[in-house]
Amino acid sequence: MLEAVERKIEQFIDDLDDKEVRRLYAKLPVGKRLRAKLIVKIAGERLSVIKTAAVVEMIHAASLLHDDVIDDADTRRAKPSLNALYGNKTAIMLGDILYSKGFLELNNISSDVAKRISNAVTQLSLGELKDVSLSKTFNTDTSVYMEMIYQKTASLIEASAGAAALLAGKPKEPFMIYGRNLGLAFQMIDDLLDITSDSQTLGKPALHDFAEGKTTLPYIYLYEALDETGRERLKNLHAKVLSKEEQRWIMTQMQTHQILMKCYAQARELIEEAVELMNRLGEDALSEIAMEMIDREF
Ligand code: FPP
Ligand code: MG
Repeated sequence: MLEAVERKIEQFIDDLDDKEVRRLYAKLPVGKRLRAKLIVKIAGERLSVIKTAAVVEMIHAASLLHDDVIDDADTRRAKPSLNALYGNKTAIMLGDILYSKGFLELNNISSDVAKRISNAVTQLSLGELKDVSLSKTFNTDTSVYMEMIYQKTASLIEASAGAAALLAGKPKEPFMIYGRNLGLAFQMIDDLLDITSDSQTLGKPALHDFAEGKTTLPYIYLYEALDETGRERLKNLHAKVLSKEEQRWIMTQMQTHQILMKCYAQARELIEEAVELMNRLGEDALSEIAMEMIDREF
């Protein structure tokens, strides 16, 4: 089913008639294709749907190329990132090529789909900018974190589900809520995995986010749970390369205050709401996708 989407992306890349772009694109590891899966499960396999799924995956790939430059990430999906292999300039330009070609193709689908997706990409960029600015201080506000992850991650998944519902002539609202909840839960789990996974499984150093200055939800909840001395200590470790001993202290505090369970339960609640919505509509495949997400390991 996703084969058709892969072929469409390849065709869009071939249209550019550029050997270098073809070679670089081939170096990108293929991800889970979550967004394409949702679109096709909601709207079937008509050409306009396959095109929408291909465009969204190209835009998503572009955003990750840029994100790895912004985050100084050497790895992506346990492989060397494109910026690590060929430098920041090449990674940024491949990102620009992928998303501008994506936008061009959006014009051939429908103006309503194009508006939804392009608006989400603006949100994505605003969210990424917020992520960068928030990293400069120790953020302790959960609503600021939730707003940032909504923009950075959930907005494109919400728009993908909404666009697919539109193409299928289905009611948009439940699918958009489903997409938004999935996106929020996905990012919350991604942020949890940065703490729980060993660096090999994750493909990046453990507790990397905190060293980068990102006070993701677990750190905000830990801050709330600690006493004054603990809070000072945690703040002092923010945005620094941590020693093994400092990492151990954070992990012990997370365990003592049952922080990871609290975050996981919150992500689970979002998934359960999404599953319930889809069950009510008889969209079993979509319920399954949501349930798989809560159990993923990387
Ligand atoms: C990953 O976050 C980043 C995103 C989901 C969005 C990135 C968006 C941009 C760079 C805006 C520019 C958009 C385009 C189309 C060029 P993360 O760093 O928390 O996740 P990670 O662990 O996967 O790196
Ligand atoms: Mg990143």
